[in-house]
Amino acid sequence: MEIQTNYPLKSLNTFGIAANAKEFVSVNSVEELAEVLKENTGKKLFILGGGSNMLLTQDIDALVIHVNLKGIDVVWQDDETAHVKAMAGENWHEFVQHCTGLNYGGIENLSLIPGNVGTTPIQNIGAYGTEIKDTMISCEAMQITTQQIRTFTNAECEFGYRESIFKGLLKGQYIITSVTFGLTKVNHKINTSYGDIAAELTKKGIVTPTIKDAGEAVTAIRQSKLPDPKELGNSGSFFKNPIITIEQFEKLYILHPTMPHYTLDDTYVKVPAGWLIEQSGFKGSRYGDAGVHARQALVLVNYGNATGQELLDLSKKIQDTVFEKFGIAIEAEVNVV
Ligand code: EPU
Repeated sequence: MEIQTNYPLKSLNTFGIAANAKEFVSVNSVEELAEVLKENTGKKLFILGGGSNMLLTQDIDALVIHVNLKGIDVVWQDDETAHVKAMAGENWHEFVQHCTGLNYGGIENLSLIPGNVGTTPIQNIGAYGTEIKDTMISCEAMQITTQQIRTFTNAECEFGYRESIFKGLLKGQYIITSVTFGLTKVNHKINTSYGDIAAELTKKGIVTPTIKDAGEAVTAIRQSKLPDPKELGNSGSFFKNPIITIEQFEKLYILHPTMPHYTLDDTYVKVPAGWLIEQSGFKGSRYGDAGVHARQALVLVNYGNATGQELLDLSKKIQDTVFEKFGIAIEAEVNVV
C-alpha cells in the first residue's frame, strides 16, 4: 500500500469534479484498512466509497482512504431465504444484478443506483417504494480509533428517510466494511405499485414478472429519466424531498392544486423537491457547465468542466428561489465537501 500525494479525484467522484487529495491510499482488504488507520492515527481522514454522493468544492486536505474491499458470499440460507454478504467496495448495481440473476428478491427496485455497497446504509438508499432498511440484516464497520470491527443490527443503524446513525451520532467514527442482506428465494414480494414499474412491465408483455424482470424494468425507467454519470456527471438526487406539516401543506395546496404529495402520518406530508424545482423554472436550465437535468429537476449535472463551487452556487440559487415561491426549505442530500 503506497500513499500517494496530490492525487486526482476526477474519475473517483460521479460528478466528475476536478479536485485533488493531499494524500491518497486504496485499501484492498480489512487488514490493510486496519494497518492504514493504525499507521496514520491523528491524521485528518476522508473515507471514499463510490464517490456518488458528494460534491467536491475544494481539494481534500486529508488522507483519502479509498475503500476497495471486494467479495460477495451467501453466508447462510434455508429453502426460503438467503443471507448475502457483500464487501463495501462492491459496485452496488453489479451486486443487485448478481442477486437478481440468482432470483434472490428484495433489492431489485434499487437497481442502477450509483455508488458502492458500503455507502448504502449510511443514507439508507431508496427508490420505488423500497429502502435498504427493508432487507438489510446487519453491517460490519471498523471503528477508526481502535480498528475493532463491530456488527450493527438493522435496528442499531437507526434508519430513517436517507438517514442512519452513521450520518448522526456516529458520524466520522466508523468505516463500513461489509453489508449483509436477507433476500427471498421463493414467495417474492415484488413491488410494482410505485411509479411506472407496472406500465414498463406491461409494455414488455410481462404478466408475472420474475425478480430479474422487475430489476430490468426499474433499470429501464431510471435510464429514461436519470443521466448516466459516465456520460454526464451527476450525483443522483441532489436534494432530499422536504417534509412539511399538514397545516403548511393545506395552505400551499389551495394555491397549487397540482402539487404532488405523500401523506406520512397525521402531522407530516412529503413533497417532491423535483416538482418544486421544476415549478421554480429551473428544469433543464444551464449556467456555464453547471445545470439542472432536463428530465428530472432533482438532479444537478456537470456538463464537463463545472467546478464544485459553481454547482454549489446553483444549488443555493435553487434553494432560495424555492423558498421564496413556496416557503419550503429544501436540503441537499449529497455531502458538500
Ligand atoms: N416531478 C416533477 N418534476 C421533476 C421531477 C419530479 O414534477 O423534474 C414530480 C413527478 O412528476 C412525481 C414526483 O415529482 O409526481 C416524484 O417524482 P419521482 O417519482 O421521479 O421521484 P422523486 O421523488 O423525484 C425519489 C428519490 C429518487 C428515486 C425516485 C424513485 C429522493 C430524494 N429521491 O425521487 O432517488 O429514484 O424517488 O423512487 O427521495 C437518488 O436518491 O439519487 C434518487 C434518484
